[in-house]
Amino acid sequence: MSEKIRVAVVGACGKMGREVVNAVVGAPDMDLVGACDVAFTGSDLGKVTNVQGLSLEIKADIESMLADAKPQVIVDFAKPFVMDNVRLAMRNGVVPVIGTTGITKDELNEMGKLAEETGVGVMVIPNFAIGAVLMMKFAAEAAKYMPNVEIIELHHDKKLDAPSGTSIMTAEIIDEARREAGVEWEKPLGGDDPSRGEKRCGVQVHSVRLPGLVAHQEVVFGGTGQALTIRHDSIDRTSFMPGVLLAVRRASTVKSLVYGLDKLL
Ligand SMILES: NC(=O)c1ccc[n+]([C@@H]2O[C@H](COP(=O)([O-])OP(=O)(O)OC[C@H]3O[C@@H](n4cnc5c(N)ncnc54)[C@H](O)[C@@H]3O)[C@@H](O)[C@H]2O)c1
Repeated sequence: MSEKIRVAVVGACGKMGREVVNAVVGAPDMDLVGACDVAFTGSDLGKVTNVQGLSLEIKADIESMLADAKPQVIVDFAKPFVMDNVRLAMRNGVVPVIGTTGITKDELNEMGKLAEETGVGVMVIPNFAIGAVLMMKFAAEAAKYMPNVEIIELHHDKKLDAPSGTSIMTAEIIDEARREAGVEWEKPLGGDDPSRGEKRCGVQVHSVRLPGLVAHQEVVFGGTGQALTIRHDSIDRTSFMPGVLLAVRRASTVKSLVYGLDKLL
């Protein structure tokens, strides 16, 4: 068997970080070599995450973690997003696989430039769930024939950013599909009242935040005498893990900025 991929998790003690720790420990082709979090610093990751047989000190300082653990890939779910972590990783030859959302266009552009400068790839994946990727693909197809569309995204109440990274990406994909198909859509009456949601790429996006939810999205298309709804629900955070492991496995082959899981499928 070839050598295992050396993986570190940033934001390892958060809700997503803990799932990633579990998934990486369970992956036969990966070694979990480092963990960063500003919470539980100095504690043992195995105890904090309840993962049997795991013993790894949680570090706050990513620079010393990179030097000591020598990972090939970092999976970053630190919240809020820290661009400095990405700069440090890429300048040290480490590929960041970023799940944190709320990343700005300027930060994405900087990552693209850093990849050109360093020859080190970087992945920004707003949604690691395969079902969400399919939802976006189907939405792009539907938008060619039913260009009047709005998005309702629903998340748990601890989410910091709104609208969600997935809804922004869906709006971008719909916009691209409508342009390529050369279709026009009707601007609804009612102006730009805040109750109409936030407009992204010409698509109104409505954000719901409630306890009990995980990550859900409806893309609602309207046509003459009919409506079409494409809905995806992540009901458990394990839904994201196959996508995370796929991205880690592809990390060594990537030399530029990869935006979205669909680019890896
Ligand atoms: N891409 C996806 O598929 C996907 C899926 C779900 C959630 N998310 C996103 O993942 C992010 C994390 O979500 P969560 O629910 O796990 O959040 P969380 O608050 O449970 O965890 C975040 C963790 O980051 C740590 N942290 C904060 N600053 C840090 C720093 N500078 N260095 C290291 N660690 C730091 C916190 O201590 C915490 O443990 C959010 O942006 C969320 O929107 C993405």
